[in-house]
Amino acid sequence: MQHYLDIASCSREEIQHLLHRARTFKQSGDYPAFPKACLANLFYENSTRTRVSFELAAKNLAMKVVNLDLQASSEQKGEVIEDTLLTLAAMGISHFAIRHVQDGLPQALAEKLGDRIHLINAGDGKQAHPSQALLDMMTILEHKADLSGLKVAIVGNLLHSRVANSFQAIAKLLGLGELVLIGPEVWQPKTVIYGQYCSDLQTGLAKADVVMALRVQKERLAAEEALDLETYRQAYAITPASLKWAKPDAIVMHPGPMNRGIEIDSEVADGPQSVILEQVTHGVFARMAILEALMD
Ligand code: CP
Repeated sequence: MQHYLDIASCSREEIQHLLHRARTFKQSGDYPAFPKACLANLFYENSTRTRVSFELAAKNLAMKVVNLDLQASSEQKGEVIEDTLLTLAAMGISHFAIRHVQDGLPQALAEKLGDRIHLINAGDGKQAHPSQALLDMMTILEHKADLSGLKVAIVGNLLHSRVANSFQAIAKLLGLGELVLIGPEVWQPKTVIYGQYCSDLQTGLAKADVVMALRVQKERLAAEEALDLETYRQAYAITPASLKWAKPDAIVMHPGPMNRGIEIDSEVADGPQSVILEQVTHGVFARMAILEALMD
């Protein structure tokens, strides 16, 4: 693979290989070493999980890692992002993990810079978060073996969620049994590539094997889409009571960061059905698999 930009541009075999490698890294603790390769983390949007797990993944593979301080970079003097990447590539940086508010930026950069570097989309705007989809699917497979018989329910702001978009793509590619996308009509997704939209939490959660709560992204809400948070909470929060609508052995996921007391209650987030911290652990292995697949 040259780049890892979105799930839709990967084949089923490529994604299955990444999942296999990530799970093998977890089981074996045996990692290859790529000491000549160097990863630069370019995070133009805030991140804790994704940035740190790309750094740890690269270090586990004996890569060098550079975390750019973008507030102090030459882009503040007007340098365009392509020139920043080419400058860093000229110093020997081979791999770039990029998070940016602009939809499609990693794809546009990959088209411009071609095969000179390896680009990883660490989240672009409202469009895609393909490494999150990989770690989400790895987490599901660690608990539920038969994807074709599973029902996954995703709850929240579907209109703005790159996590939900990339999960739809991986679910379609791997043949997940059923995907329900639950949320208020004002946050209904404009396009659904896999699954069905449902506005009612109780109906959507019925017989679900996996319940994924999305973060309410206050920073992305346009005025006309703004919803009173208490109104949202009353209808859509994953609480001990609403979780009972799913199967008794359903696992609970959240990509983080969580708004406790809004989209999810602490009793659920910290409860026995929660695999939220496992998702974080799996993020390191999933990103190791991505980096390994992008080696020359
Ligand atoms: N899930 C996720 O992307 O978290 P961060 O914003 O902390 O990277």
